Amino acid sequence: MPERLYDVVIFGATGFAGRLVARYLAHRRPRPGVRWAIAGRDPKKLRELARELARELEEPEPPILVADSHDPVSLEAMAAQTTVICTTVGPYAHHGAPLVAAAVAQGTHTCDLTGEPQFVRRMIDAHHAEAEARGVRIVHCCGFDSVPSDLGVWVLQQAARERLGAPCLRIEMVVEAIRGGFSGGTLTSLGNVLTEAKDPQTRRILGDPYALAPGAPRGPDRGLQVGVRYSEAAGAWTAPFMMAGINERVVRRSHALLGLPWGEGFSYHESMRAGPGLRGRIRAGTLAVGLGLISVAMGTPPVRRVLQATVLPAQGQGPSEASIEAGFFKIHLYGWLEPGSGERIEVVVRGRRDPGYGATACMLAESALCLATDPLPERAGVLTPATAMGGALVARLDATDVQFEVLDAPTQG
Ligand SMILES: NC(=O)c1ccc[n+]([C@@H]2O[C@H](COP(=O)([O-])OP(=O)(O)OC[C@H]3O[C@@H](n4cnc5c(N)ncnc54)[C@H](OP(=O)(O)O)[C@@H]3O)[C@@H](O)[C@H]2O)c1
Repeated sequence: MPERLYDVVIFGATGFAGRLVARYLAHRRPRPGVRWAIAGRDPKKLRELARELARELEEPEPPILVADSHDPVSLEAMAAQTTVICTTVGPYAHHGAPLVAAAVAQGTHTCDLTGEPQFVRRMIDAHHAEAEARGVRIVHCCGFDSVPSDLGVWVLQQAARERLGAPCLRIEMVVEAIRGGFSGGTLTSLGNVLTEAKDPQTRRILGDPYALAPGAPRGPDRGLQVGVRYSEAAGAWTAPFMMAGINERVVRRSHALLGLPWGEGFSYHESMRAGPGLRGRIRAGTLAVGLGLISVAMGTPPVRRVLQATVLPAQGQGPSEASIEAGFFKIHLYGWLEPGSGERIEVVVRGRRDPGYGATACMLAESALCLATDPLPERAGVLTPATAMGGALVARLDATDVQFEVLDAPTQG
């Protein structure tokens, strides 16, 4: 790639998530060395943000680039100036496609926060082959969905090879504890996925557990958990996990991109712990019903608009600084060499601060730095965090806000 003016440009820097990413990069980027700029559609908002960041850091203002997600000329001009574009302009199904096209045309890597399976599938169909041929890494899902799951599986499989001599054929992820909120942008993106699900082609993608691994042999997984289920591994009743719809498919795409090294029978499942006993079962049922009701409400645009105008955050708004600081997550991955076998490996992934905002700002910013500056696997195309960055991103996150731990003495079961 020819020398570019910038290493990383944050596109959408004036939005709720974008400001957190810009602030993370402003404070925590290595200095000297990383050349960065903020970008967006509104020059006035960008100038205000640049002034704010300069005041906080007692540094010169970061440079500003103006581009609109629907103006391909402005996107290509932005892409031509940087090694990596880190974009928080969503919903990605509305705004993301022209940027990916511009990045592939200009040989620029991208990372983003999408959790929209139908958008990722469209980008795979439209751009994977060309991006691969041009050596461009388009890395979707670099936030809470799906970095902890995708890299958690990657870490678990490395440990399984080292300790058990083979990768695990079955992995189960259970969200043990989580505290976080939602921004208006996330709710709008979620609502858009549910609204688009009314289209039969999109519904097919959203109903297919292997939708992000087109062309690869299909494994045994049948679909998402919808009701309550007892997890022997966690020793607790579980409810469906809201992000499983994207996370499970990202893990399966990683497996397909790697050439199915974990076996054609590899199976992956996600859920959320509700607790043991009757209380746990009732709680799991309540969570499952609540999730169903949220999905119906957010998938009905007039209801969503009323909720966002009254009780829920509107676009541009999100959790307070105090609640972002108070947030956290802990997920547990259990892997078995064979389904039903006693020998297993366990990995815990812990994140500080609100998973969707504090920890996500860290995961996305570190992904951008990783793509811009780290030695990476010789792989290109429409990739996943694990296949694009693997151990390089694990090492970065371990040194910051998201830690991966392989348990020394896994429980038997
Ligand atoms: N995966 C995760 O864990 C995770 C976590 C958080 C967020 N997200 C996703 O990240 C996305 C952003 O969320 P958010 O809460 O930050 O939303 P937001 O506050 O509404 O921000 C959206 C950004 O997009 C910009 N934008 C809108 N239309 C544009 C256009 N035509 N051209 C250029 N920029 C445009 C907005 O610019 P202005 O500032 O000028 O309005 C704003 O900067 C959503 O899709 C959300 O689902 C994912």
